[in-house]
Amino acid sequence: MTIRRSLALCLACWAAPLFAAETVWLDSLDLSTMRQGWGRPQVNRSMREKPLTIAGTVFAHGVGTHATSTYRVLLARGSERFTATVGVDDAAGAGGSVVFQVLVDGKRVFNSGVMKHGQPGKPVSVDLRGATTLILLVNDGGDGVRNDHGNWADAQFAVTGARPKPFVAPKEDPYVLTPEPGPAPRLNFPAVYGARPGNPFLYRIPAQGTRPMTFSALNLPSSLRLDPDTGIITGTTPPAGKYHIQLAARNPRGGASRTFTLVSGDTLSLTPQMGWNHWYAHYHRITDAMMREAADILIRSGMADVGYDYVNIDDCWMNAEADAKRKPDPARVGPFRDAQGRLLPNAHFPDMKGLADYIHAKGLKAGLYTSPGPKTCAGYAGAWQHEEQDARLFAEWGYDFLKYDWCSYSTVVSKERTLDEMQRPYRLMGDLLRRQPRDIVFNLCQYGMGDVWKWGAEIGGHSWRTAGDLGYELDRIFEVALKNCEHRAWQKPGAWNDPDYLQIGYIGNARGGGLPEPCDLSPTEQYSFMSLWALMASPLFYSGDLTRLDEFTLNVLCNPEVIGVNQDPLGQCARVERLDDDTFLLVKDLADGSKAVGLCNAGYEAAPVVASWGKLGLSGAQPVRDVWRHTNLGRFQGEFRAEVKRRGVVLVRVGETRAP
Ligand code: GLA
Repeated sequence: MTIRRSLALCLACWAAPLFAAETVWLDSLDLSTMRQGWGRPQVNRSMREKPLTIAGTVFAHGVGTHATSTYRVLLARGSERFTATVGVDDAAGAGGSVVFQVLVDGKRVFNSGVMKHGQPGKPVSVDLRGATTLILLVNDGGDGVRNDHGNWADAQFAVTGARPKPFVAPKEDPYVLTPEPGPAPRLNFPAVYGARPGNPFLYRIPAQGTRPMTFSALNLPSSLRLDPDTGIITGTTPPAGKYHIQLAARNPRGGASRTFTLVSGDTLSLTPQMGWNHWYAHYHRITDAMMREAADILIRSGMADVGYDYVNIDDCWMNAEADAKRKPDPARVGPFRDAQGRLLPNAHFPDMKGLADYIHAKGLKAGLYTSPGPKTCAGYAGAWQHEEQDARLFAEWGYDFLKYDWCSYSTVVSKERTLDEMQRPYRLMGDLLRRQPRDIVFNLCQYGMGDVWKWGAEIGGHSWRTAGDLGYELDRIFEVALKNCEHRAWQKPGAWNDPDYLQIGYIGNARGGGLPEPCDLSPTEQYSFMSLWALMASPLFYSGDLTRLDEFTLNVLCNPEVIGVNQDPLGQCARVERLDDDTFLLVKDLADGSKAVGLCNAGYEAAPVVASWGKLGLSGAQPVRDVWRHTNLGRFQGEFRAEVKRRGVVLVRVGETRAP
């Protein structure tokens, strides 16, 4: 007995050091693979480089990060448990709100719910036995990522084997879904197009196929002319009314013909705007030469042949003040206005009218940007107290689109910012633009304040950003889409919710306006980006580096059937049918009676997704078409199911179409 007991004791003392779990602090791992929306991960301190503190409790160990943050860890055998206390750091500043999630082998095993600044930390304790991967996510709490400083405090692994190892997302080779356009003409214009009576008219017929091609039109109003070689229609918009024009294109390989309904009236942008905006590619580096090159590339690359036609300058084309902190390029520093108050472009934009003329000569449209405040977001001259003069100047130069960015307008309104104060500058500019003798599309950029989707159209807007800059939230395209879909009821032709630009291919890193580099999204996520924006009928502005377009990026941007879903004349934003935590359907009614359906998987593992006819409001046998591949998949009874890749969308059209 005594011997047995002492043997047992002895065994225990031998086994203890071997099997007792060791603590591996999260902060001791290589954090260089942690992706986050702003700044870099902080070891044992907060994003503000202060001690990690949640609701007054200070933690010696942990990692300070910023939404949206993703960290992937490979677990070795012997990984037992992950524990932490999570919360928003006290130094973040009011308004920070985040959601912490932990995924083990792709399954969400911890979800903190929305945690706000000042709220006590929540404990996390996750069983890792038998698991191979762990993903730590910090997402925004639904109000944008401003001040979203999330702490993984006291975060540690209990392991008896090897240390956990960070890993980057599995690499996926690019794959091309869009069929090569054929040599015969294919017409890609939307069914309807709005313009104001009596104003200058300019439209380049988007058509794929081998050039040269000859264009013709039947029932073209007499105030319009079509150039048969370029397919560019110019002239003056005819009196109010609907004009059903039969447009055709022919080349030696074939011909195509379709009806283009010109709606002459008060509403512009009857389908979502399409084009290119310089911001996420070139930030404060943009020049006149780069804008002209962008117009050339839209034509040369074939993007204009599927409908991308606005060439839009964003911030930084005016002058800035000398500023020791921001250090603007000296060629962009100078007086904001001349003695008559006329706005002065900076030295990189010597001829704003010449630039618009250059873009127009290609049949494309020109856009620019300013702020209702004294300064733009990047610190350049704004329109404050010169609104009328600026609106006239933009029209005189020949611009067709204005993005009006709130920015420093905060400094000229009360702190409370009443609804009237939020609307006032947009109402003013909306009225001024409508009075100009040309069609100018008006894009409100004020990040969704005051539920802009409810009143944007009323005050003259054609589209409005529904949230902050997507530049900081690329990991969240699914979440951003779900949020944007909440405002679907207010969307209609001429009034578009804008969840920000398409950022695929080469984009400049939004953290600090970096030089363009390949974006972080996997090929599947890049397709998802386009599918989601098509299903929401969101404006399609590509904002990547056009000089580095490759075959993959072009195939994502230039699929005429995907764009057809976006440009459908009903203008509906898809409704959401939730299936589980990660999967959902997006269902968009189309003008021809069929439905575009996205089978969406926002999760980090492939998942089966079922679109049952009940959820789509259909029954019986229904035809299904693969929108990306342009192939009919057959007739399906009761449902359509697909295995959807991680972070993927399978985009199909379901249902019979009725003749137009
Ligand atoms: C804001 C806008 C962006 C961009 C920049 C320019 O952040 O939301 O889209 O226009 O300003 O400074």
